[in-house]
Amino acid sequence: MNEACEWRDAPAADFAVIGDPVSHSRSPRMHTAAYEALGLPYRYVAVRIPAGEVGEALDHLASLGYRGVNVTVPHKAEAMAWARHPDALAVRIGVANTIDLTDGRATNTDAPGFLDTISEFGEALDIVILGAGGTARALAAVLPANGHRVRIWNRTRERAQELAAEFDLLVIDEPTAAAALVVNTTSVGLQNARLEIDWATARPATVAYDMVYGHTQFLGEAHEHGLRTVDGKPQLVAQGARSFAWWLGIEPPRDVMMEAIL
Ligand code: ATR
Repeated sequence: MNEACEWRDAPAADFAVIGDPVSHSRSPRMHTAAYEALGLPYRYVAVRIPAGEVGEALDHLASLGYRGVNVTVPHKAEAMAWARHPDALAVRIGVANTIDLTDGRATNTDAPGFLDTISEFGEALDIVILGAGGTARALAAVLPANGHRVRIWNRTRERAQELAAEFDLLVIDEPTAAAALVVNTTSVGLQNARLEIDWATARPATVAYDMVYGHTQFLGEAHEHGLRTVDGKPQLVAQGARSFAWWLGIEPPRDVMMEAIL
């Protein structure tokens, strides 16, 4: 756990991750490691902001001289509303996770960060997205446009249909592992629940990807079937590295950032 401060008590710093809760965030460690590796004098902290206070809190952080924030659950939409100049990608996805407090620009590095993490698996992948919440939406907004074929399954079918209609995806009625890449964006792993997936139908080269970090039941079952698994850590590093470069115009060392969150 990091120390997270309340926004009214925020210390002098340059960058922050904002959320509620936010003390579990690995972003301060990850960014601090990159500053140290590059000899940069910046400070990155975790700031808790209750829902409904994001606009006021961001004005306050800007007045303290903060240059930028990363935004985590549940503030991505509220932060987007604060931003005066969201870029085209943030508008398409509908949420921003990276804000420049000096000029009101905002972007979304979650989705391009995810693309970074799957580029090694090939082009024009056959991808199944499990879930239809905010994370699924960010992926749905970029995957087809990058040449991937996407099918989507969600417990509540109507939500899957809404995303499918907006981003040109196919809806499926059962979660399947018959794909090149199966991405779990649901929050089942955080509850005492599991997804019924027929892992026996998976191709040997299928990759099981969970957006949550750590050893989830979803990844455990895929591993038992001999499949390659990826958890949320590469995605955390990729989005963080892209935010870093967006603010500072410097590519940070991703290996150092990964080492810092293990
Ligand atoms: P996020 O923004 O993090 O994606 P969200 O909007 O709360 O979070 O969405 C959570 C996703 O997990 C949804 O797709 C949800 O399915 P529903 O749309 O049917 O609610 C899914 N989810 C949560 N608990 C689940 C469970 N026990 N089984 C299957 N899907 C579940």
